[in-house]
Amino acid sequence: MENSKRCRDSFVVRTSIVLPPDTNSHGTMFGGKLMAYIDDIAAISAMRHARKHVVTASTDSVDFLHPIYEGNSVCLEAFVTYTGQTSMEVFVKVIAEDLLTGERNVCALSFLTFVAIDENGAPSPVPQIIPETEEEKKLYNSAKERAELRKKRKKESEILAKRFGTDLPW
Ligand SMILES: CC(C)(COP(=O)(O)OP(=O)(O)OC[C@H]1O[C@@H](n2cnc3c(N)ncnc32)[C@H](O)[C@@H]1OP(=O)(O)O)[C@@H](O)C(=O)NCCC(=O)NCCS
Repeated sequence: MENSKRCRDSFVVRTSIVLPPDTNSHGTMFGGKLMAYIDDIAAISAMRHARKHVVTASTDSVDFLHPIYEGNSVCLEAFVTYTGQTSMEVFVKVIAEDLLTGERNVCALSFLTFVAIDENGAPSPVPQIIPETEEEKKLYNSAKERAELRKKRKKESEILAKRFGTDLPW
């Protein structure tokens, strides 16, 4: 297919070790730090797909399924699962590993949507995506439903944003 790319073309993997500055007082990783890693790897994946600048349009909920301890390795995988005209859905999976025992857990999963932008900051077209593996096809086939939910959620956010003022909090 012309102007289309495979999911694996946008595949990104990042592994690092969890050090004390990344943890809270219980010795487990800060959620905010992990969220920054998730946004970072997903943006790289979206840019690999689009070969354009991108902005994060939304992040679906991130469920922290398992704590990540100091000294664990944390591995994030990301790839584009679905594309619209200018938007890309990116799936991120986070796996932590106890490096002493080898025990691994899927600690978080997330879907993010990025929009490619042109030099004026306006949404810009992206290549279509071609799912190949079973996992890619499953994620691709369920993506439209997630996109509909996002549209609904965005409308609700816009209503709330109008209702709330912009007065400074002091
Ligand atoms: C994301 C953004 C570029 C969309 O601009 P817009 O004028 O609303 O554009 P449109 O309504 O034409 O939508 C463009 C695409 O984005 C998608 N989109 C827009 N808002 C979205 C959202 N909240 N979640 C998922 N997709 C969204 C639309 O579905 C559309 O997809 P398609 O072209 O594949 O059909 C704009 O809202 C923006 O710049 N937001 C701020 C982004 C940012 O600063 N991110 C960093 C956060 S600190």
